[in-house]
Amino acid sequence: MTVRVPAKVNLQLSVGPPRADGYHDLVTVFHAVSLYDEVTVRPADRTRVLVTGDDVTGVPAGRANLAVRAARALATVGLRRRGRPAVEIEIRKRIPVAAGLAGGSADAAATLVACNELWRAGLSPAELREVGAKVGSDVPFALLGGTAIGQGRGEQLTVALAAGTYHWVLAFASGGLSTPEVYAACDRLRAARSAGDGEGPGLSTALMAALRSGDPAEVGPLLSNDLQPAAVSLRPDLRRTLNAGTEHGALGAIISGSGPTCVFLAANAAQARELAVALTGAGVCRSVLRVKGPAPGAAVVTTAPR
Ligand code: C5P
Repeated sequence: MTVRVPAKVNLQLSVGPPRADGYHDLVTVFHAVSLYDEVTVRPADRTRVLVTGDDVTGVPAGRANLAVRAARALATVGLRRRGRPAVEIEIRKRIPVAAGLAGGSADAAATLVACNELWRAGLSPAELREVGAKVGSDVPFALLGGTAIGQGRGEQLTVALAAGTYHWVLAFASGGLSTPEVYAACDRLRAARSAGDGEGPGLSTALMAALRSGDPAEVGPLLSNDLQPAAVSLRPDLRRTLNAGTEHGALGAIISGSGPTCVFLAANAAQARELAVALTGAGVCRSVLRVKGPAPGAAVVTTAPR
């Protein structure tokens, strides 16, 4: 059973103060893009994970892998009366690791969909999202795809009204950033400025209106990410990458999630091609990729013959 699952970018990421449980309440606008991992699950004697792809360093093995946790969570919740079958989980990785694109959460989401089919567990999409939320804050969105507002830890989703197709250029950085470290840096920066204390996160109504219009020129200047100053403080080189995109005509330039991937909005496919060439020439990132959004959530692509 093979499932294809998209990466996400955050068009808005509004972060509140830290909660007692260590998480931050947030309001975010998730947007799935056409960069996909593929996950195949097969019955096995014990649950294990196998990762293939260009750059798989940093993908955790065994229980630390979110895909393994997802398979175990589904076996516990969905198959209580039918034992705990094991699976081999093969992940074909294209979404870079620790990049702010929710690649690990995507693999967990794909594993949930694949195991739900393989085991004929019969969970509804809403039930799968509920199991996914226990595995990671971004897993429910990887199941849903499209464009959606995330609240709470990011796991409470509302589908967003968004028109049109958006052309993006992703600029991948060398190395990754740890999500907890970026959130911690954000808290430190805010404490130093004594800013943000007690303020809840809020949705940008201007961005929502722009997304309904489907006009990238309206959307571009409204992209925002509260984690960006923290990500840039940990990786000052990202400032150059963002500036290069803006200088070469990007309608919007932002870090995705906790970074370090930089995301640029183009007016159309032709401008995205020009921007990708310019960013490559400027030497401000490891590599670039053109993607489109919104992309669909985790979905089965093939069923192995019986
Ligand atoms: O939920 P997930 O395991 O993906 O979160 C990874 C880490 O990111 C958390 O341990 C926490 O440090 C941080 N986080 C947060 N607030 C959120 C989501 C994630 O502080 N809403």
